[in-house]
Amino acid sequence: MTFTKKVADLTPIVDTVFAIARRAKEDEKLHGDEVVNATIGALYDEDNQLVAFDSVFDHYNTMPNTTKAAYAPNFTGTTAFKDAIYNWVVQDVNLDLPHSVIATPGGSGAMSMAITTCLDVGDTLLIPSFAWTSYAIMAHENQYQSLTYEMFEDDHFNLNDLKEKVESLLDKQERIVIVINDPCHNPTGYSMTNHEWEELITYLNEVSKTHPCIILNDIAYIDYSYDLSHSRDYLNVFKKMSDNVMVIIGFSISKALTSYGLRCGAAITIANKQEDVRDVEIVFEKKARATWSSIPNGAMENFIWVISENKEAFLKEKDTYIALLKERADLFLKESLDEELSLYPYKEGFFVTLKMNNNEERDIYHEKLMDNHIYTVKVNKGIRIAICSLPLNKIKGLAKKLKDIQKEI
Ligand SMILES: Cc1ncc(COP(=O)(O)O)c(C=O)c1O
Repeated sequence: MTFTKKVADLTPIVDTVFAIARRAKEDEKLHGDEVVNATIGALYDEDNQLVAFDSVFDHYNTMPNTTKAAYAPNFTGTTAFKDAIYNWVVQDVNLDLPHSVIATPGGSGAMSMAITTCLDVGDTLLIPSFAWTSYAIMAHENQYQSLTYEMFEDDHFNLNDLKEKVESLLDKQERIVIVINDPCHNPTGYSMTNHEWEELITYLNEVSKTHPCIILNDIAYIDYSYDLSHSRDYLNVFKKMSDNVMVIIGFSISKALTSYGLRCGAAITIANKQEDVRDVEIVFEKKARATWSSIPNGAMENFIWVISENKEAFLKEKDTYIALLKERADLFLKESLDEELSLYPYKEGFFVTLKMNNNEERDIYHEKLMDNHIYTVKVNKGIRIAICSLPLNKIKGLAKKLKDIQKEI
């Protein structure tokens, strides 16, 4: 007998990131600068400090206490916030499609709400073979299965495997729900080409003749794209969705504004028919009310201010960190090439992932790295290096160290 519901999964959560980060901190007390802590998935500067944009927080700190203390006037987000989010996400892409925006606690809230709205109990969620671990937890906590599609075929998006996985579900469930974390995929740093997006939509349009298809497009890292002015181009492909395909975009203000603790983000639903968008919106409204109730008012107000009144300063400040990320990535990629270290195809974003042949080898290697004071995060058949938090002096020479340790196993 337990006090938890019958279907509760009582296996404790294994937090692969925080546990290793704690070990790294302990090691730093003993070995100081020798330690390479490549675990932290937030933006850090060259002095090892968490980046909190002045262009975001200086204003936040001057906002009246009552603005921060107040409930949001609307539990789905204010109209001004919804408009600001939509315009920020689509920018100059003219989608001209019915859409709705709901404020959520970060990108996590958006993804979780979308997953639990679209699947029936027992259904299977399709997630990439390299993925942010929360998707599977969100699925399993809500009595869904998850199935992974291989993300890469050589160094390209593996549509063939995704097709196979979709087809394996067609006899089992009414709807197909697929997580696509793009651009700046966590943990590989891959971004799909517009052509890959086109092929995906063409395929889903076919599938949707018998099964509604929902793409959950997690864009948590989009605002760190190296080619920002074209980062939204792929959204044009949604104009080609058939009536039975929908996209729900999960946006994270945590990443965009370096405000992880403010818990603010949004889910944007887009489809051809207004009534389909409204159906999803109705469920979202109730889910919001029934779980987090409303989003911090100060966080929403501050987002609106930053992207309207302080846009230039914000973009300028963010650009300096995009340039820093790129400098770190370029250095690591160049040295990895020199050392013939195998990486998954990195294009942009916070993380780079080393290729491992299998998870047994990965586990041995991961331990051996820690014996050598290098702390990383294990992912499926890979080792994630968080270049977002590693200063250049720690990146310099890292590929060689990684290669040398690899040779020992
Ligand atoms: C791929 C991905 N999606 C979404 C999120 C959600 O972030 P938050 O809920 O803090 O906005 C994260 C956070 O690490 C992430 O890595």
